[in-house]
Amino acid sequence: MQLENVEQLKARVDEEWQAVLDMLSEKIAIGSVSAKGITAEHMRRSAEFVASMMREVGVDAHVEQSTNPDGTPGAFEVIGEKHVSDDAPTVLLYAHHDVQPVPDPSVWDTDPWKATVKGDRLYGRGSSDDGGGLAIHRGAIGALADELGVNIKVFFEGEEEMGSESFIPFITAHKDDFAADVIIVADSGNYSAEIPSLTTSLRGEAECDVTVRVLNHPVHSGQYGGPILDANTTAALLISSMYDEKGNVVVPGVKSQEVVGGLQRDLDEKTFRHDSSVVDSYTFAGEGSLASRLWVKPSISVIGFDAHPVEGSFNVIAETARFRLSMRVAPSQNPQKALDALTDFLVSHAPFGAQVSVKQVAAGSGWAMDMSTDVVQDAEEAMRVAFGTDPINKGEGGSIPFIPELQKLYPQTKVLVTGPEDPMSNAHSPNESISLSGLKKNILTEALFLQALARN
Ligand code: BES
Ligand code: MN
Repeated sequence: MQLENVEQLKARVDEEWQAVLDMLSEKIAIGSVSAKGITAEHMRRSAEFVASMMREVGVDAHVEQSTNPDGTPGAFEVIGEKHVSDDAPTVLLYAHHDVQPVPDPSVWDTDPWKATVKGDRLYGRGSSDDGGGLAIHRGAIGALADELGVNIKVFFEGEEEMGSESFIPFITAHKDDFAADVIIVADSGNYSAEIPSLTTSLRGEAECDVTVRVLNHPVHSGQYGGPILDANTTAALLISSMYDEKGNVVVPGVKSQEVVGGLQRDLDEKTFRHDSSVVDSYTFAGEGSLASRLWVKPSISVIGFDAHPVEGSFNVIAETARFRLSMRVAPSQNPQKALDALTDFLVSHAPFGAQVSVKQVAAGSGWAMDMSTDVVQDAEEAMRVAFGTDPINKGEGGSIPFIPELQKLYPQTKVLVTGPEDPMSNAHSPNESISLSGLKKNILTEALFLQALARN
């Protein structure tokens, strides 16, 4: 890579910077929470805004509403292209414009819907996940401007946070429109704001609702308590039976695997403690490297629990309890198989013969990167130049279930997973933020990478 060229591009990224920040800020203010209704007006507004931003950098973009598998109207998707030459390679850029909800704004230090800069970080819901992804693509295309040497297609999704129900039908219906040599999914992140990464694996995600019944109606807890455990306690016993005493998941058929591409560097425990906000006294669950526990071993979280509220509770034995499990599945395991194994386990481990029923809710695949493609080297070189340091590739504990589906649809296409996040981003949590210096380097990385592809 020629130095002169790098310096020029850097200057171009600087020129685009204010426009990138303005876009990110306006985007945050729209509050595109897909959980409030994928087809609602605010989601259309968000999509229209993003499309207009892309038109500003010469991408012929528009909004199209997808159709759900059951025929009902789906998400507002942004699609578009910038064609430079029939001989140039084509790159499909992905990000999502929907964001996670903010259940309790009072626990934020800033207004979640107003972009606020403090030090090197910009705060707001969707600032990183995945406004940062949109910002990277917008910034890179803007910086390259007339120098762009690849054909660009964009797909900015409106329902990623809701499981991408209509994504594959939509892409399938537009199969030729989205055909590309390379897909960049900018919805993950870097090792840190200073150290860039390719994401080498993502876990799958499967969910089920579990109902535990011990009685047909509530009864007096003094009169019956002892021989009969309440439904909440029974549910707790059932939940704890999924773990051994070290905190490893021990559900037969729910698998682990080796770190994809080998572990380049384990996560730093001190940083992990700080970024996760775990209480000081907490000793971690599970065994093996921290990274392996997050990236390639399964985890199971109770993400919802229906029980009587403490306030207004009285002395009865609860007849039923219901909870939702979200299981992260090893990257290469079939998520439906893992979910079936979990379902069998729960039903066959009902404490004291309680009635346990399981309703499967979702099963999305994980992903393991093909390390052998030439674009991996190009991307790593672009990261090295833009960040001034060697990349440290990493897996991710989170999930982007459509990636393996895309790969099936386009078997020849090389998929790279990048993104704006770093361990301090707090995606899905209060005080979500993005590193501004990191974002700038991510933009430069993508611009350099697109130029490298143009030369190939
Ligand atoms: N951007 C995340 C996935 C992610 C999280 C990648 C952390 C890298 C690090 C994405 O928006 C997301 O949250 N996905 C959902 C998928 C689910 C709805 C199937 C997830 O992981 O919970
Ligand atoms: Mn995301």
